[in-house]
Amino acid sequence: MTLEQKLKDLEQEALSAFKAAGSLQALYETKVKYLGKQGAFTGLMKEMGALKAEERPVFGKLVNLTKQTLEQAYDGAEQALRAKELEAKIQNESVDLSLPGPKRVVGTAHPIAMIGDEVVSILSHIGFSVRTGPQIESDWYNFEALNIPPDHPSRDMQDTFYIDEKTVLRTHTSPVQIRVMENEKPPIRVLAPGSVFRCDSDISHSPNFHQIEGLWIDRKVSLADLRGTIAYFIREMFGQDMKVRFRPSFFPFTEPSAEFDGSCMICRGKGCRMCKQSGWVELGGCGLVHPRVLKSAGLDPKEWQGFAFGFGLERMAILKYGVGDIRQFFDNNVHFLRQFAR
Ligand code: FA5
Repeated sequence: MTLEQKLKDLEQEALSAFKAAGSLQALYETKVKYLGKQGAFTGLMKEMGALKAEERPVFGKLVNLTKQTLEQAYDGAEQALRAKELEAKIQNESVDLSLPGPKRVVGTAHPIAMIGDEVVSILSHIGFSVRTGPQIESDWYNFEALNIPPDHPSRDMQDTFYIDEKTVLRTHTSPVQIRVMENEKPPIRVLAPGSVFRCDSDISHSPNFHQIEGLWIDRKVSLADLRGTIAYFIREMFGQDMKVRFRPSFFPFTEPSAEFDGSCMICRGKGCRMCKQSGWVELGGCGLVHPRVLKSAGLDPKEWQGFAFGFGLERMAILKYGVGDIRQFFDNNVHFLRQFAR
């Protein structure tokens, strides 16, 4: 067989092999086999030595033309295979709209935040709106302006975390009363929810807990308004059959003062560890704003009067959800907290 014939056969063989390659990898390997440095064409070139001198340039030209043809065939086959692979990829990766989407894990509001929102929502129906104050508070706002002078025994009622002699972590939300009265003209009807701190810890006391303060200042506000407001709120919050009890009490910033209790939901009033066997859970304190407090905040007690109250939000949550230990609200156990998700 002549070299020319061998060349033609090799060309046909390579063209068929390019066509038959089923993948880019197989195509590339075929190219190496025929056109690579150690490939079939290089082998054929080596046989050129056997040709007569005048036949060699003619054969060389023929080899180059064949190579060009094969390179073009290779490029064509490569393009076709790439298009095929892309097509397959699009098919495989297409979106199935009937499949359920990936689940997004979302958190829920903390039960104490939810109780706070609920309190605000109920009292906003009778005209209260929200104000806030700092958690790091001066001795003046936390104590003195509230008629609690430095050596007053009632400072012992609230075990205080001191930052320095004149700065404390607020022990209650009552300082917001002063800040509001200083900055706003009466009539005033505000709520101040927020974090408070006391050096105290057992199943019904936590060192960090939450209160919501209420303050209503106007020209004529009576104890009957206070009682009516608290009774309305407690029944809206816990249901119309919830029992409410007021007990005379003492707070330096109110006169007269009272504490109010709700019937214990855990034992239904029979007596348990949470209510210390009394059947009642203390929810908060209240009273008519003391004239000295009005004066500290720059209001004339002859012109203005009002009432204030402060609830513990954790105690409300305990009553509402029947939780046996206040510390569970602070343990960050998601299994516990998820139960309250809405
Ligand atoms: C006060 O803090 C007064 N500032 C409330 C007040 C406001 C009275 C306005 C009059 C007028 P007391 O220390 O009793 O009061 O706390 C109020 C409520 O906070 C308590 O009834 C209780 O529900 C809650 N509380 C008190 N200490 C803790 C504690 N360590 N952990 C959880 N809740 C507490």
